Parts: sequence; structure tokens; C-alpha cells
Amino acid sequence: MSQSYNRYNTWSSSVRWFHWINVLSVISLIFVGLMMLYKKELGITSLDAKIGLKELHAIIGYIFAINLFIRFIFAFIGPVSARFRAFLPGKGFMQELNSYRASLKAGKPQQFIGHNPLGKLAVTALFSLLIILAFSGLIRAGTDIYYPPFGGVVASYVAEEGKDPASLLPYQKGGVNSEKMASLKAFKSPFGKVHLYSAYLLMFLILVHITAVVRAEVKEGDSLVSSMFSGKKVLKEKPYDEV
Ligand code: HEM
Repeated sequence: MSQSYNRYNTWSSSVRWFHWINVLSVISLIFVGLMMLYKKELGITSLDAKIGLKELHAIIGYIFAINLFIRFIFAFIGPVSARFRAFLPGKGFMQELNSYRASLKAGKPQQFIGHNPLGKLAVTALFSLLIILAFSGLIRAGTDIYYPPFGGVVASYVAEEGKDPASLLPYQKGGVNSEKMASLKAFKSPFGKVHLYSAYLLMFLILVHITAVVRAEVKEGDSLVSSMFSGKKVLKEKPYDEV
């Protein structure tokens, strides 16, 4: 029996570029982040090597944060598939979700050109975590190794009188006011905790995301994986979100 399929334009090139740059930078950040966490076990003991890892992590972090920032500009002014309304659960969302879940239960999953309702939830959760990681990471970069955008202000705050803040090196003992250093430590500590636990949560959500995407591809046959490369979905059913 012959079956007809239709091709639909789904993710714009801005969404796809963001997605793959994000994947590469997040994998690299997790990799270097785990090296920082397990430095002792890896035999990394010198201060220079520890600082080097933090600097490498922060530099990849800038690529990640700039990519995320550009993505948010597109969420305001970009094509339809990049806009907030393409992924944020909006009015009538609970109804959409219930109807989609019922279709899954019935073994006849609704097909979508964009995100299905569960996908919207996942993308919203992932974006929220990425923003928290970018923000806490930029604060740690400033307070831990005097890196931009906040490093200049932090160095000026902790530098001893007469010391040029720009000449301060990360973890340098001399040239800093010890009281101010103690209050900086108290300030930066919660950001470190938020950064670390968000990173763990992100690792978990990435596993859920990959499992869900592969499941949707296999069970719903909506060419979800290839669409993030080609920008096109090949669907058998009439898409639920077709306008
Ligand atoms: C998906 C994004 C990110 C992930 C998964 C991630 C993950 C991690 C992990 C696992 C650590 C080790 C935590 C520890 O040693 O306690 C870490 C530390 C750090 N991260 Fe990130 N990070 C991300 C984004 C960023 C960004 C955007 C920046 C800034 C540009 C940044 C800057 C730092 C710095 C400076 C540290 C070392 C400071 C410290 O010892 O806590 N990170 N990150």
C-alpha cells in the first residue's frame, strides 16, 4: 500500500546553527568542568594547571554565552520557529499537552511541524538552565580568575591600595586586601554551588532530551533528528500545528 508523505520547513538556519554550536560548546564545557572537579584523581596538582583549566573553561564559556545571547535576540526578532512562542508553553498549553498525551496513549501520536508539547517543556527547562549556567559562570569567571565582564570591577575591589588591579593574577596571595578577599569568597561561594548543581541537572536533562528525541524519531516517525540538520520534517499525518 502506498503512503503519501509531505515535507515541511521547520527549524530556521538560526535555530540550527545555535543548536549545534550549543551542543559542541556544552559538551566541551562539561568535559573541562569534570576535569576541574576530578583534578586530583587526574593527577593535576600544580596551581598553574588548575588556573589553566579554569581559563580554558571560561574561554569556551564565552562562545557558549555569546551563542545563547544571539539566540535570545532571534527569539525576539527572528523567524517564527526561533520566536519565544515556538517553545514557551502559552495559553491553552495544558489542553495541548493532554490531547498530545492522549494521542500517545491511543498509539496514534499527533505530529507537529515545530515542538510537540513535551518538547516545549523540555526546551523551556533546558533554556532556563543554560541561562543560569551562563550567568553564574560569568560571575565565577569574574570573582575567581578576574575574567570579563566582571573581573575588572572585582580586581579593583580586592586590590590593596597602591596596587594596579590590572596586574593582579588569579590566586595571587600578595597585593590584595585580606578582608575584602574574605567577603569576595563569601559572595562567590553560592554562585559556585548554583553553577555546579545546575551543571549536574543539565547533564541529566541532556540524557532525557536525547532519549526523548530518539524515542520520538522511532515511535512517531517525524524525522526529528534529521530535521535539526536539514531544517525539514517529512510527515505522514497532517501536522497538528499547521496553520
Ligand atoms: C553549559 C554550560 C556550563 C557547564 C555545564 C559548566 C560546568 C562547570 C563545572 C562542572 C564546573 C566545575 C565546578 C567546580 O569545580 O566546583 C565549572 C566551573 C567553572 N565554570 Fe562553568 N559551566 C558552564 C558554563 C560556564 C560559563 C558560561 C562560564 C563563564 C564564561 C563558566 C565559568 C566557570 C568558571 C570560572 C569555573 C571555575 C570556578 C569554580 O571553581 O567554581 N562556566 N563549570
